Amino acid sequence: MQSVISVQNLNHYFGKGQLRKQVLFDINLEINAGEIIIMTGPSGSGKTTLLTLVGGLRSAQEGSLRVLGRELCGANAGQLTLARRNHGYIFQAHNLHGSLTALQNVRMGLELHKSVTPEQMKKRSAEMLDLVGLGNRLNYYPDDLSGGQKQRVAIARALVSQPKIVLADEPTAALDSKSGRDVVNLMHNLAKEQDCTILLVTHDNRILDIADRIVYMEDGKLAKAPVAVG
Ligand SMILES: Nc1ncnc2c1ncn2[C@@H]1O[C@H](COP(=O)(O)OP(=O)(O)O)[C@@H](O)[C@H]1O
Ligand SMILES: [Mg+2]
Repeated sequence: MQSVISVQNLNHYFGKGQLRKQVLFDINLEINAGEIIIMTGPSGSGKTTLLTLVGGLRSAQEGSLRVLGRELCGANAGQLTLARRNHGYIFQAHNLHGSLTALQNVRMGLELHKSVTPEQMKKRSAEMLDLVGLGNRLNYYPDDLSGGQKQRVAIARALVSQPKIVLADEPTAALDSKSGRDVVNLMHNLAKEQDCTILLVTHDNRILDIADRIVYMEDGKLAKAPVAVG
């Protein structure tokens, strides 16, 4: 099977000159279509850095990083912008726009997709909010939603364009355990329905069971999970 994400001998450095510091060391990772991979590991170990490289949010410097068949190592800004259109992102803090309603926030997830008409955007956004259980909150502003509801809006925004890849950085960190569970179950179900690949960073032991595979990052190096989980 062809890898959706193929990382080979990837190194990454922050800073220049004497301050240059290596944060990723010889990362190798192959992820297949439809797989849910969870990445765990201590704070500062390089998880977010790897996620942002895969997502095209920063440019890969050394080694090879192929996402949906495109090499991102050495890619220019235009190529990275194109690559980003294939992904949905879910961050730890939901990153919703406070001045936009739930519906308008979800619509943002479609705005890079020029082929969709405004009517279709509205319809698909409303349907996606319905799927995440917020069909009766379309016109609410983030301030009037609970933490779990806001994170569900963020999930709807990430998935509304039916991306091939979803990247999630500690999506349950700000949630109580029930909302956290609801949120990952939702991601899991939507992903399986849309056949998308998920790379999810978490410290949350309670959600490890949704993973097809768990990888472990420590000191900028990736390993298989050190203990069997299950
Ligand atoms: N923009 C940046 N500039 C310089 N150093 C950074 C930057 N982002 C992260 N780092 C450093 O890179 C290392 C890995 O950070 P990060 O990827 O955020 O780890 P994690 O997500 O596992 O907590 C840390 O030592 C962090 O301080
Ligand atoms: Mg992080």
